[in-house]
Amino acid sequence: MQGTELRSAYLEFFRSKGHQVVSSSPLVPQNDPTLLFSNAGMNQFKDLFLGAEKRSYSRATTCQKCLRISGKHNDLENVGVTARHHTFFEMLGNFSFGDYFKADAITFAWELVTTVFKLPEDRLWVTVYEKDDEAEELWVKLAGVKRERIIRLGEADNFWAMGDTGPCGPCSEIHYYIGNEPHTQSKEGFLRDDGSYLEFWNLVFMQYDRSPDGTLTPLPKPSVDTGMGLERMASILQGKKANYDSDLLRPVISLCEELSGFRYDGGSYVPRDLRADPAYARDVAMRVAADHSRATAFLVADGVRPGSDGRGYVLRRLIRRAARHGRVLGFTEPFLYEACDTVIREMGGHYGELTAARETIEKVVLAEERKFQETLDSGLALLSREVEKLAPSAPLPGAVAFLLHDTYGFPLDLTEDALKGYGRAVDHEGFR
Ligand code: GLY
Repeated sequence: MQGTELRSAYLEFFRSKGHQVVSSSPLVPQNDPTLLFSNAGMNQFKDLFLGAEKRSYSRATTCQKCLRISGKHNDLENVGVTARHHTFFEMLGNFSFGDYFKADAITFAWELVTTVFKLPEDRLWVTVYEKDDEAEELWVKLAGVKRERIIRLGEADNFWAMGDTGPCGPCSEIHYYIGNEPHTQSKEGFLRDDGSYLEFWNLVFMQYDRSPDGTLTPLPKPSVDTGMGLERMASILQGKKANYDSDLLRPVISLCEELSGFRYDGGSYVPRDLRADPAYARDVAMRVAADHSRATAFLVADGVRPGSDGRGYVLRRLIRRAARHGRVLGFTEPFLYEACDTVIREMGGHYGELTAARETIEKVVLAEERKFQETLDSGLALLSREVEKLAPSAPLPGAVAFLLHDTYGFPLDLTEDALKGYGRAVDHEGFR
């Protein structure tokens, strides 16, 4: 199943279960000062969960554009290094606003996964919140999941919150064994967390509103909020080991191969020494390009422009980080605007805002890339000279990181990212 088919299959399944199909809200939240960017499908429904808004429907389904790059949910540092992390991704979700609760959420999820997506039950695992006896019983009774395949986990894994405040509740996640030796599956193997068990769907049983002082107030009515990573499910259904190998992300990697002449190896998802392994560093760079081009194209389409603070600075950091990784691939000229064009071609069918903003995206990204070209090489040369002067494993002095920031336009996280190639960190205190 291609990514586009998967997106439609999910929305159609929930439409057939009485859900209103609602468009994604923009990446820039409309009425929520607690949030820099949309980071989950439930964001646009926050007031419905809180009982502060009423709509004509009590069930909805969406494919939401998400950006996890700030606040409680921030995956930037893992992008490119792991097989799964992204800044931008699409989250499929179904929602009940005081309508159905745990039983139907579990029944729907199991039906979709086992009959529409046809995932074999003997590779599926379920986690529940450690105090949620009811959820465990429902998985056994309604879905027929074997008790030995249900694992209880604590708050860090199985209690979901949108941010420090707002709707939250215990959750239950579905995992798929992607390893090559199904007969070795075990609870111990699951808990070892070696990458063989992939979490792909989170069912949140929304029950509370968390206030700034941490108090949990029950919501007017128990509700449901689920989130399935489209890219993860695509990789499972396409038999790929990584999201980056699915048809949703691979086209920009192919473009990078074409432009650079280097081949993408792909198999290298175990973090390695970037210095000792240039092929691995190039794989990381291609994955960063695939990720950051999507985030960049969607941010510009949703009205964000590179700038020196707030959302604009996030966009600037993404474009500059991608440009720095481009140097690893030998790109001395702007390339991200071309990668954004590939994103528009691949995703503009579902997201008309991308196609409508095609020219703006090209102009904005190219201008930002050009601006940074002038200082990127001299900054990288300075960084390399300064690292050579350091004692083994000493961090880069804060003053040098500040000079790079102030004079060469290197955001701190770009300097830190570049330093990974030298196995060094930054003296944060000095920088501050
Ligand atoms: N709101 C559910 C999730 O983000 O996992």
